[in-house]
Order: sequence, then structure tokens, then C-alpha cells
Amino acid sequence: MNWDSLFAERTKQMKRSTVREILKLTAKPEVISFAGGLPAPELFPVDRIREATDVVLAERGREVLQYSTSEGMPELRGLIAKRLAHGNFQIHPDNILITSGSQQAIDMLARIFLNEGDRVVVENPTYVGMMSSWKSYYPRFSAVPTDNDGMLVDELPTLLAEPHKVMYAIPTFQNPQGTTLVQSRRAQLARILVEHGLPFIEDDPYGELRYSGDKVPSVLQMEAEVRGATNADGNVIYCGTFSKILTPGLRIGWVAAAFPVIDKLVQVKQGADLHTSTLNQVITYEVARDEAFLDAHIAHLREVYRQRRDLMLQTMDEYFPAEVTWTRPEGGLFLMVTLPAHLDATDLLKQALTHDVAFVPGEGFYIGDAGKNTFRLNFSNSREERIVEGIKRLGGVLKAAVRG
Ligand SMILES: Cc1ncc(COP(=O)(O)O)c(C=O)c1O
Repeated sequence: MNWDSLFAERTKQMKRSTVREILKLTAKPEVISFAGGLPAPELFPVDRIREATDVVLAERGREVLQYSTSEGMPELRGLIAKRLAHGNFQIHPDNILITSGSQQAIDMLARIFLNEGDRVVVENPTYVGMMSSWKSYYPRFSAVPTDNDGMLVDELPTLLAEPHKVMYAIPTFQNPQGTTLVQSRRAQLARILVEHGLPFIEDDPYGELRYSGDKVPSVLQMEAEVRGATNADGNVIYCGTFSKILTPGLRIGWVAAAFPVIDKLVQVKQGADLHTSTLNQVITYEVARDEAFLDAHIAHLREVYRQRRDLMLQTMDEYFPAEVTWTRPEGGLFLMVTLPAHLDATDLLKQALTHDVAFVPGEGFYIGDAGKNTFRLNFSNSREERIVEGIKRLGGVLKAAVRG
């Protein structure tokens, strides 16, 4: 059978990433990999999740193994609504849909918004998982450049002279750069969104993982303020997840948005997977409803990840050559390194792998032909001694490359 001739047009854009193929080599235990985007598995609350699973199976086994509603478990939606509330800003549980990770929310949002050729605004660089999903719908990406304070919001009004369907960004501890959109730019962004009636997808998997600096309000909240409202019925579609604060394996994420958006997403969800795993929602609720436990767990994650970030930055300061620069994130899981313009990070990865150390070249995160001289480092998923050893090795590779 010639399968290739049978696959739909939209699959032509899909390919396995060459970098992912290279990174398969990092599975060897001797390789120190800063490549993945993984949380630290040694910090997963395994015992608490096992207890919760035992309780729900013992007490409500038949119910939690049954099909359930597409919107998601009401108690879990209520808990998420409560955690997103801030002062007067309140979210009704009807404005929340539970999804199979926030990745599914991103994918379903493309399905409900994008026609072929629609223009969408994104940051440059941006989340590769969004691009893999959205490319199948053939949108035209308008890329907003970024600096250490997040996207250059000043550039938006000129871009928006052309009609755009939707905007997607990760304003807090961005993947891949780790940078955060500062409050003044958030305020400006919120005003622009309201002025232009532009839907904004705020992807926020890392917001709770802050290690330093002052907390900034979500764009969801700031947009409500601009509207003079205290609800989530405006332009912002907020995607959240338990992946980075509990465990990604349960695949529990959510969308908070105006009801017509939730209603349309529910229709898509019914066709996609009927509903998010009942058992996993109930386990997540059973663990998260003990908010004192959840908050203490998140505080512990922050403490460990802060130490790992600090150690990585300190070691980079010591061992990386002066010609190389990098971001200094206040939270999240990543930082981004920029090499002198003539160096190619994919070539450098091949060198690095001969020294058993790995990272992700930045090129794949960029719209257009940029970012070849950048790479992303993850600091959450390596223990302290491996961070120091890996960064030392990488420093050696970088020095050799810079000196040509
Ligand atoms: C920016 C961003 N959005 C969404 C996701 C998807 O997360 P999940 O589907 O596990 O909630 C990730 C995962 O790394 C991410 O980095």
C-alpha cells in the first residue's frame, strides 16, 4: 500500500523533528541532558497520588471508572475557578473546561478558530507544541519579536492594521526563553486586545513556578480590569495545567474563557475524546482539594527548582565564554542561550553529544529563518551534581567553538 498517497493534505506539513531524532541519543544514562522539558520526577508526590487513588477506587470505584461529562468534573472545575480568583476577579465554574493537558486545549482552540490563511499573532520564538498543532490548519503566523521583558507589545498596533483572528502567547516564564512579559507591557497588551477585539490565548503552564521577582497578574485578569469587569467573559482564553505543579502523566489541564468559547470547545471535545479521563480527574481533585498540601508541594518545587536555576546560572557565569549570552528567568523550567551569529546550535549539539551533554537547538521554536544561533536549556530535570558537570562540559564545547 502506498500510504503516503492516502494521507490527507494537512499531514504534509507534519514531520518528525530531526532534532528529536538526535536527542534519542540522550536516553543513554551517561548523557547529561538539558534538552527535555520535563519536571523533576523525584519530586512527584507519588505516595499522595497512590493514597488518593486507593481512596477513590475503594469509595467510588464504579463511578470513577465510568464515562463522565465532556465539560469535566464539577468539583474540579470549582476548585480551579477558586484558585484563579483574585480579589474582585472571579471565575464561574461554567467558564471552565477540563482538557487532556493544556496541549489538547491548544489543539482544540485551533480547530474552533482557524480557517486556512487566517492570520495569527505569536511571539518569536514560541512554543513548538502549538506550532505542530496549528500548522495543520494553514494559518499565517505574524511573529512579534521579544526581548528580556517579553514580547515587544509596541509592535502590535502596526501588525494589527491587517485583520488577525487570534493571538497566542506564553506571557509568564515563556517556553523556550524563560522570560516574562513585564507588568507595564501586560497593561498595554490588555488595552490593545480590548481596543481591537482580538481573542488572546494566554498559555500559562509555568505561572505558579516563580523563584524570584514580584508576581505579575495574568493577562486574563488585566484584560478584565480594562473592561471594567470582574469576570472571565472577555477576550482572554486562559490555558492552565496540573502538569508542572503535580504531574504531567495524569494529563489534566483546563481552559478558562467566555462561555461561548467553552461551549464550542465542548462540542469539539465530544468529537475528539468524549471527555478527559474520569479517574485521573477524580484523583487530581482528591489530591488538589487539600489546598494546604498542594500549596506546600508547589512551595517545595519552587525551592528545589530555584536552587537548580541558581546553580545553572552560576556555573554558566563561571564556565561559558564571554561571547555567549543567556536569559535569566525568574521562574519556569528553561533558559535560552544566544551564540555569536556565525555559530549554528545544531552543529554544536553534535559536538556536545560527543561529550555526553545535550540541549535543544532554538531554530525549531522560531517562525521564519531565525534562531539558528540559539539553544534552550532545561534546569528542572537534572540533579545538582549533573548540572555542574554538564554545564562545565558545555562550557568547554562553547569555548572551542567560539575560538574557531
Ligand atoms: C508552553 C506550553 N504549553 C503547553 C504545554 C503542554 O502541557 P500539558 O499538555 O502537559 O498541560 C507545554 C508543555 O511543556 C508548554 O511548555
